[in-house]
Amino acid sequence: MSDDTVELEARLEEAESFDPPESFVEQANVTDEGIYEEFDENWPECWERAADLLDWDEEYDTVLDDGDAPFYEWFTGGSLNASANCLDRHLDERGDEVAIDWIGELGDTRTYTYEELHREVNEFAAALRDLGVEENDVVTMYMPMIPELPIAMLACARIGAPHSVVFAGFSADALATRMESAASEYLITCDGYYRRGDPLHHKEKADEGLSQVDHEVEEVVVADRLGDEYDHPMDDGERDFDDLVADHEGAAVEPVSRDAEDMLFLMYTSGTTGKPKGVKHTTGGYLSYVSWTSHAVLDIEPDDTYWCSADIGWITGHSYIVYGPLALGTTSVMYEGTPDYPEKDRLWDIVEEYEVDIFYTAPTAIRAFMKWGTEHPEKHDLTSLRLLGTVGEPINPRAWKWYYKHVGNEECPVVDTWWQTETGGMMVTTLPGINTMKPGSAGPPLPGIDARVVDTAGEEVDAGRAGYLTVDKPWPGMLRTVYKNDDRYVSEYWSEYSDPDADEWVYFPEDGAKIDEDGYITVLGRVDDVLNVSGHRLGTMEIESAIVGVNGVAEAAVVGGQHPVKGEAVYAYVITEEGQEGDAAFEEEIVAAVEEAIGPIARPEEVVFTPELPKTRSGKIMRRLLEDIANEEELGDTSTLRNPDVVEDIQAKVSDD
Ligand code: WT7
Repeated sequence: MSDDTVELEARLEEAESFDPPESFVEQANVTDEGIYEEFDENWPECWERAADLLDWDEEYDTVLDDGDAPFYEWFTGGSLNASANCLDRHLDERGDEVAIDWIGELGDTRTYTYEELHREVNEFAAALRDLGVEENDVVTMYMPMIPELPIAMLACARIGAPHSVVFAGFSADALATRMESAASEYLITCDGYYRRGDPLHHKEKADEGLSQVDHEVEEVVVADRLGDEYDHPMDDGERDFDDLVADHEGAAVEPVSRDAEDMLFLMYTSGTTGKPKGVKHTTGGYLSYVSWTSHAVLDIEPDDTYWCSADIGWITGHSYIVYGPLALGTTSVMYEGTPDYPEKDRLWDIVEEYEVDIFYTAPTAIRAFMKWGTEHPEKHDLTSLRLLGTVGEPINPRAWKWYYKHVGNEECPVVDTWWQTETGGMMVTTLPGINTMKPGSAGPPLPGIDARVVDTAGEEVDAGRAGYLTVDKPWPGMLRTVYKNDDRYVSEYWSEYSDPDADEWVYFPEDGAKIDEDGYITVLGRVDDVLNVSGHRLGTMEIESAIVGVNGVAEAAVVGGQHPVKGEAVYAYVITEEGQEGDAAFEEEIVAAVEEAIGPIARPEEVVFTPELPKTRSGKIMRRLLEDIANEEELGDTSTLRNPDVVEDIQAKVSDD
């Protein structure tokens, strides 16, 4: 194909668009196009519509308090409890309906009606209190996808103790760093879980993490997932989850009325420095926002069976497995395992068996489904599906169309939702009952969300031009600060485009984007040193500091290279110290160090030993060149390099491998 044809095809592909199917529109939760204007004209009061989805103990008196921007406060004066909103208020009408439908990887299942979930959350909340957990104590959870995780989260929410969930795939070191940063004195973990049919021991990893925490950890609670399969280590004084619940059988814990601005949870996420940031979310604004977006974008109704295949260890699971869906009283499906166990049709098997109405997943998963072939979804009756969604990274039009056709049978809208750990909930996406969909483009900003694409000077760019995404007005689901680090909150998110002297504040998500004539935003990816591997966010600095910690490493630079399934993969360029051989054994040592510091998700795809790194005259590593090399692309400008020859040397090494 000539370059011209490639370009023409690319343009045709971009021009393609799909209207929401009539059958969907007829029943959609939001269908009035006027909603965009209505929110604009009535901002910020428009957000009452989100708050109205909740039950408040005390009505708020101010929608938005911007007196101390960018430390915005939402729904001030109001108070509520998140667990009461997710459980108690549904009991009368939906007590016997299923809240969580859990599926283990081995095919075992556990079903919790709202009444059962309410009971267990109360019992565990009572147990936590007895263990000494008080309001505002941060409780860490290091747990995989087992029902005890949402139970523990809701129990914490009930007694006003913020939770900090650490993804089970993270390493012991990562757990320790997060517990220390939050000064968390309580840990809830489990013995293990199943991966590809094998029991994976988790407790040792938790123990290793605990041994590295400097402060006193008061209590450790261990849930039992593997049973007799694994006789897990229990230290003196550690508690068994089931025993605690049994000891508090029938206990009722009055939900603590929390101020709207009280912290609901912390979620650590990677940034440009070596230290993850504790993103703080609050009770009123966050819960309103995730409920509203679950209603308006995911179109969730109480009678639906809804399934988000993310892990609760990430923000997607917090917002759209636990809080949003349960606040709306729907059935949320939770699956423990991998999508290809025992066979590559596992997910479609679940969709068929549970008659899933709404399915929300990540582009990396869709690209894997594509690779596995259409025969897997074709084996199953997927006609229960009404809406599909994606999140986590840009979705290429081909993957979008595959999903639309082979999973949705061209009868389900696909919502491509752009958002971040920091935004709490969805920000840029089509409303499925209103907007035309354009594969590859997330869509317009949601009503009330003032997202723009600007140049380095902050001026809006013309249609078709690349620029930087900004959000020019606050929103209820936004992070409130970086935990115990207000300065970092302001400098990371509110300094690039804001004018503090004029009290004008602009949120900068650190993503590149472009916008078309219809105001549809295509998010291009991060513009900072953060990688997106399989929809997981990893800081290059964190990986680099793990690598330079290895004896024999002098210097390291980590960049992202394109990967057909993962989106991005980790490429590590390493200079060894004199006398240290850059051989396979040393590469293994480096890979192991990264796994130990962060977890298997950060595992380098390739380690390239090099005598030098390309540097500018001022000594700055030219990462862009390293990225070009990883992607085997034509190299960008090398004229400012102090050591231009090194680039060819590295290039030769990468193509040798
Ligand atoms: C980063 C946030 C939101 C929950 C999962 C990830 C990228 C996210 C999209 C999308 C293009 C996307 C951005 C963003 N991203 N969704 N639909 N299209 N890019 O949360 O770990 O906080 O990562 O993921 O780069 O900044 P996260």
